[in-house]
Amino acid sequence: MELSSISIIFFFATLQALSVLQVNSQSTDSCNSNLNLDLPFDTSLLNCLPVWSRHDFILRYVRNLSNVWNFVLSAPDTNSFVAMGFSTTGQMVGSSAVVGWVSADGSGTVKQYFLGGQRPNLVVADQGNLTIVENSTSITSRSSRVYLAFQLNTSQPLSRVLYSVGQIGVIPSAPGFALAEHRDKVSTLLNYRTGTSASDSQHSRLRKSHGILNMLSWGILMIIGAMAGRYFKQWDPMWFYSHAAIQSCAFLLGLAGIISGFVLEDRLNAEVDTHKALGILILVLGCLQVNSPAIHIYSIK
Ligand SMILES: *[C@@H]1O[C@H](CO)[C@@H](O)[C@H](O)[C@H]1NC(C)=O
Ligand SMILES: *[C@@H]1O[C@H](CO)[C@@H](O)[C@H](O)[C@H]1NC(C)=O
Ligand SMILES: *[C@@H]1O[C@H](CO)[C@@H](O)[C@H](O)[C@H]1NC(C)=O
Ligand SMILES: *[C@@H]1O[C@H](CO)[C@@H](O)[C@H](O)[C@H]1NC(C)=O
Repeated sequence: MELSSISIIFFFATLQALSVLQVNSQSTDSCNSNLNLDLPFDTSLLNCLPVWSRHDFILRYVRNLSNVWNFVLSAPDTNSFVAMGFSTTGQMVGSSAVVGWVSADGSGTVKQYFLGGQRPNLVVADQGNLTIVENSTSITSRSSRVYLAFQLNTSQPLSRVLYSVGQIGVIPSAPGFALAEHRDKVSTLLNYRTGTSASDSQHSRLRKSHGILNMLSWGILMIIGAMAGRYFKQWDPMWFYSHAAIQSCAFLLGLAGIISGFVLEDRLNAEVDTHKALGILILVLGCLQVNSPAIHIYSIK
């Protein structure tokens, strides 16, 4: 009875862990394929790295002259804007971004925006702190992908890089070119020297603890605790104490894991509804599980 409720928890925990693995659709661009675009700069020598797997963003860049950096950001064409922002803090507010989109008639627009605040009227077009080389920007749609290219005039671009993607079918329009709120965004750290990109470290540490806590508690300790209850009954009353101790420990770790999930969701502004719903379900099942001996004792009395 108890073992079967544990296996239900285990089943949902596995399902929940799997719900974060997103399957990307077949991509028409990868770091193995050459760029075949008509750009104002040479594209054969660019470093290439996937920077946002959830939306299949690929970044190519190289330092050209001592103070000129070439960038090409490739993303699926979803009829929305794509943006690459540079930030001193890792936050959107205060950052400057290069934003590009392709209109229905096929013409592309690239603009710099300054993100002065969360409200749309604080996100202003044609402002910001990036020195974009004159006439270096372009955006091209090709094989269901868009390629946003630009050159920055700086000795060292900021390493806290943000990427965002707009609502499908919503693109900025004249005269104000107001930028509607993004559909999704990510904050990363780009190491230009080694050519590696990672999600912002404090978040990735939190993400790691979230994963490890949940796996340890719901995936391992709960099972061990249940087995102690099921198979070691001949060692009475030790079996009960060890069973209860392991189960409570698993529950507390699991609770910490789920709370870290909420903090993470809040900080990352992530869309993880299925994952979250399953997590709450596991927590509820876990509560019932941990309380079951108490219920059991009360029912004897
Ligand atoms: C560097 O810039 C020059 C002049 O803008 C251009 O001709 C050349 O192709 C660039 N090199 C690379 C590697 O992009
Ligand atoms: C960046 O640019 C914006 C708008 O152009 C300006 O208000 C802000 O003070 C600038 N920030 C820095 C640090 O230069
Ligand atoms: C970069 O900026 C410096 C100083 O503002 C300027 O002298 C130089 O011509 C610029 N380089 C390019 C390629 O625009
Ligand atoms: C940029 O493009 C405009 C319009 O095509 C042109 O008038 C201007 O001379 C160009 N600037 C540079 C630095 O090439």
